[in-house]
Amino acid sequence: MSVSEESASQVGQPAPDARPDDHVIILFGATGDLARRKLLPGLFHLARAGLLPPRYRIVGSAPAQFALTDEQFRRHAREAVQEFGLSAPDGTPWQAFEAALSFGAADPGDPRPLLEAVQRAERAVGGAPRRVCHLAVPPAAFQSVIAMLGDTGLATGARVIVEKPFGTDLASARALNQAVHAVFTEEQVFRIDHFLGKESVDNILALRFANGLFEPIWNRYHISHVQIDVPETIGIEGRSQFFEQTGTYRDMIVTHLFQLLGFVAMEPPTSLDAKPLRDETAKVFQALEPVDTTHVVRGQYTGYREEPGVDPSSQTETFVALRAMVDNWRWAGVPFHLRSGKAMGQRRQVVTLHFRKPPLRMFPDSPAGPHAQRANALVIDFDDPGWISVRFLVKEPGPAMHLSAAEMTFRYADSFRNRHGLEGYERLLLDAMLGNQALFTRSDGIERLWEISTPLLDNPPPVQPYPQGGWGPDAIRREIAPHHWYLPDGHQG
Ligand code: BG6
Repeated sequence: MSVSEESASQVGQPAPDARPDDHVIILFGATGDLARRKLLPGLFHLARAGLLPPRYRIVGSAPAQFALTDEQFRRHAREAVQEFGLSAPDGTPWQAFEAALSFGAADPGDPRPLLEAVQRAERAVGGAPRRVCHLAVPPAAFQSVIAMLGDTGLATGARVIVEKPFGTDLASARALNQAVHAVFTEEQVFRIDHFLGKESVDNILALRFANGLFEPIWNRYHISHVQIDVPETIGIEGRSQFFEQTGTYRDMIVTHLFQLLGFVAMEPPTSLDAKPLRDETAKVFQALEPVDTTHVVRGQYTGYREEPGVDPSSQTETFVALRAMVDNWRWAGVPFHLRSGKAMGQRRQVVTLHFRKPPLRMFPDSPAGPHAQRANALVIDFDDPGWISVRFLVKEPGPAMHLSAAEMTFRYADSFRNRHGLEGYERLLLDAMLGNQALFTRSDGIERLWEISTPLLDNPPPVQPYPQGGWGPDAIRREIAPHHWYLPDGHQG
């Protein structure tokens, strides 16, 4: 299959080379893990791709006890880009980027070093640059940073990028939204879910709404069940403190997988602008039934309790499989099976739509059970670079009518030069600077997802062990029956 590059377009992104206005970017949590792994390398990649504003400055910030000099911050950024970046920190692009970095510590009682650094940065940019504050801080620090932004006036006219977790339950999500809204209007707030920055999430929209082929069958009359599957091979990667308090449901399902479900299940929006798009995902979340705990399997990989920092009798889940039901005209009766876990057999990020079986009486020799199911599906792999595959039955060559499974697959890597390829984070940082909220989550949607999660958070079923490198506890088979868990390339449970 081939496609012309001209036909590619991204949600809400006016032109592939759109550049934001001049900016001062304030990075709170600049010495933390997220800044090191994703944000500093991502900002440099944007700079190298010519997608940062013509004039910009990046002011790193952290509490005074972690304060760095400008020079130390530049070194820190260079090491981060070296270790985690797509582009090496060298040549003129690095020199220009490095020169734009400075540091200003801020404690709730003493924000002066930060304020001075921001003033210096604004003078260096000249004119009246926009300000974006990126809050890559731990949840405990969140409210005090927001309040400080309000007290110091840094919030005035600024945009704020907020990192997950957006609360840990309904009450905390409401409190968090109230704290944010005391200082910022919703139009200033960009809640980042990096899954929504992945190319293939845009492509779910393109596939569904730019073609006449799929949308007419994208409903309960033709689809029997949907699987959203994000197994990971990594464990908790030393993040025991975070993970023990969070678990897979809060870390992956409430955020990434439910957000994806919003895009898979939404009605056609009137346009791809932020409001219509977010109105449609919010409607899906309104129609989601409260999580039924009898259809939830919580798992924990063997060895998790021996990880440093983990409680030896921990009940934190490293795996969740659950059934979500969207009670509206399009989806009533169609289960959405969601699964994500650590230390599993394969890394995958896949949405599979399984179609209803036609009557196969006239093909007595047709494949049965899981094989027939595999052959009647549309599979979207949204891990970068991603692919889309249609699986169906064909006749085997020969005198008899033997059916066999076949597939047609479109692979992004084979069809496009990755000229504008951006990682999820990079895409979203750019969108925030361009003021495009289309792919950022909204407070009402977040609160609804915590609301439907309440039965599970109040009454979590006990965790069940599963071996590392496997596909989760055995109970997940019963959970999905009469269907089967399905992964491309033959793995299933
Ligand atoms: C993060 C979670 O948000 O997403 C991690 O905190 C998870 O636990 C990660 O591993 C997955 O992201 P990616 O970049 O692999 O798609």
